[in-house]
Amino acid sequence: MSPHTLPGTPVSHGPMSDGTFSHGDPLQNERVRALDPLGADQALATLPELNGRADVPALAAMLRELLPHERDLAGYSTDECLAVMRDLGMLLGSIKRHDETEPAGLVPEVVPVLRELGRRTGMVPRDTVHHYTTWNPTGARQRMYTGDPQESCLQESVRMVFPRLRSGLELCDVLAHTDPTDGTFATVLDELTDLLGAMVDSIDMVVQEVSPAFFARVLRPYYENVTLDGRSYLGPAAAQVPLWLIDLAVWASDHSEPGYQEFLAESIPYSLPRWRELYASWLRGPSLVGRLVEAFGDDPGERERSAPQLLESAEALLRLLRVIMVFRGRHLGIARKAYQEDVRLFPVGSGGASVELLKQILDLTRDNANLTRGSAHATRDAGQNAKAAS
Ligand code: HEM
Repeated sequence: MSPHTLPGTPVSHGPMSDGTFSHGDPLQNERVRALDPLGADQALATLPELNGRADVPALAAMLRELLPHERDLAGYSTDECLAVMRDLGMLLGSIKRHDETEPAGLVPEVVPVLRELGRRTGMVPRDTVHHYTTWNPTGARQRMYTGDPQESCLQESVRMVFPRLRSGLELCDVLAHTDPTDGTFATVLDELTDLLGAMVDSIDMVVQEVSPAFFARVLRPYYENVTLDGRSYLGPAAAQVPLWLIDLAVWASDHSEPGYQEFLAESIPYSLPRWRELYASWLRGPSLVGRLVEAFGDDPGERERSAPQLLESAEALLRLLRVIMVFRGRHLGIARKAYQEDVRLFPVGSGGASVELLKQILDLTRDNANLTRGSAHATRDAGQNAKAAS
């Protein structure tokens, strides 16, 4: 066990017996935050200062010094590998920010280490938003590029939503196996809606505390792609928050557009192993919206029997989509300001997509809400007409 592990803390030593990884549970998050396998706490505390003066030689030297020996790397637990990736990742983003040179060009020895860390953790061979937020300690040991409270706010905005989204994705899996005519469909949807309220709280906090210009000019450059082994890997940005995976279950598997599906496919490698499993199982649909609309369209006799429950399910689905639209509307507002031509340094987001795509995703969410509402209204009207005629 590493000397930096908290006494009495259970340590995971690798994938579970079925070969999968259970990243993301709150206890594991705590453990990874507590770890400092490279003894990098002090060195990384100087990162904001080195970044402040764009001292690339010092950043490259730090990366070289922190690199673990092959022997140590082989002995690390999964949790330790995640903490090592987190710390090396801070240097990848920092070097890339100041120099056209790729970090792997300056310190080629980093590549096999990153490759091995990715393999050992079942993740991409660079740090992700999970490393930068959930697995990042808070307080004096917090790893930051700039040390600015606005960066800390952005880290917190993501940290606060991940546990909720993790539970939310499991609820989507329950919903994928629940009939919309079943009473639990609406109940589970309402639980999901409650969880996603955290996205609205998160973006409200960011809108209040992070200036679009600070994001665009100071922070955004740290989230640039880096190239490793000839492949480009995205930086640890909030676009990796898997709201798009919730969409896939709710509507996007069968009511989406190619541009959004492409963004989803490009984002999924940066997510946790369990979420990639969910992606594979939901990709071909049918989505919740698709199943509900189909249920409304079933033969009239059956529809009449199940209509009250279907209408409740539709109302619950609309409540969910409304919360997602509120998040997306406010998020689009700050994204537009940060990517205005006279403010931005980069034409697209660090997730590789444009503000136009964000608008398109918001429109698609609204279209799916309208489709759900339309089916529900048609059924309600048909019921009322039948009553009036009898
Ligand atoms: C200054 C604040 C922010 C700006 C300027 C911003 C900008 C962007 C941009 C341009 C995209 C397009 C994809 C890409 O990055 O390439 C995006 C995607 C995304 N961002 Fe943000 N973002 C901000 C904060 C946040 C926060 C706080 C969250 C949530 C905690 C968030 C969640 C997302 C998600 C989930 C996507 C994927 C698209 C979607 O599901 O609608 N963003 N963001």
